[in-house]
Amino acid sequence: MIKGVYSGCYRQHPIDRILGTDTSGFVDSDRLTNDQPCDENNAYMVCQPSIVRRALESLPVIEGYTFLDLGCGKGRALIVATEFPFSAVLGCDISRGLVASANANANANANANARILATRFPDRTKMRALVSDVRELIFPTGKLVIFLYNPFGQSLMSDVLSGLLNGLEVDAIEHVFIVYCNPVVADAVDAIPGFRRWSADTYEYAPNELNFGPTASDAVVVWQSVKNAIPGESAACRRQVNIEGSTAYLD
Ligand SMILES: C[S@@+](CC[C@H](N)C(=O)[O-])C[C@H]1O[C@@H](n2cnc3c(N)ncnc32)[C@H](O)[C@@H]1O
Repeated sequence: MIKGVYSGCYRQHPIDRILGTDTSGFVDSDRLTNDQPCDENNAYMVCQPSIVRRALESLPVIEGYTFLDLGCGKGRALIVATEFPFSAVLGCDISRGLVASANANANANANANARILATRFPDRTKMRALVSDVRELIFPTGKLVIFLYNPFGQSLMSDVLSGLLNGLEVDAIEHVFIVYCNPVVADAVDAIPGFRRWSADTYEYAPNELNFGPTASDAVVVWQSVKNAIPGESAACRRQVNIEGSTAYLD
């Protein structure tokens, strides 16, 4: 709670002022669900659009890929992903309330973020979020960009990686990029031979985002599946990830 207040998460973020969406806020991990307590779920804190944008710009290809934010909250990263030519823009979150803010349906939440985006930008790929614990998620097939903004701890991350590896093994998944912002359990991905690094960068918040998040920059590490790997990884992709508290820094 203290981290949420002092990091500026509660202040209305510029993206919400500009678009009329509601993605700002902070929800502590023990208030995410009533019925599925899990001490590995991290609080709802929101990524900076400029960081997501720069991370996605670093990918060699977007066309033909499905964007999937694991722990999408109210859908801020989904909103940014609609700026890119993904085939589908999807998210899942364990919190019913956060997904209601992300989504729109015919009966509820007329101002939900997906509806606002679809009205303002009818030509963009539509965003859609669903309520699901990642432990129960069935991954989409084809080519995937998995996005994470430090949503959970090591064992949930291992479950996610096993699911992706299974999908790759049975050819349901063709190729995967894992775009991990604030990669606190980067070790879990590095330990798996089926994935290899694509890039490792630190991006500064855009000037108008300063004081709307806990820091002024975010580390972002990107991996891809060894299966159908695309050549051209960055020379600095193997930079070491160091952790201080709940923040990852690159050497
Ligand atoms: C740090 S927030 C990131 C929100 C969003 N991805 C963004 O970048 O703005 C982490 C999110 O992960 C969700 N989460 C945590 N554990 C989860 C789980 N086991 N399954 C699905 N979502 C989970 C939380 O509800 C929270 O919204």
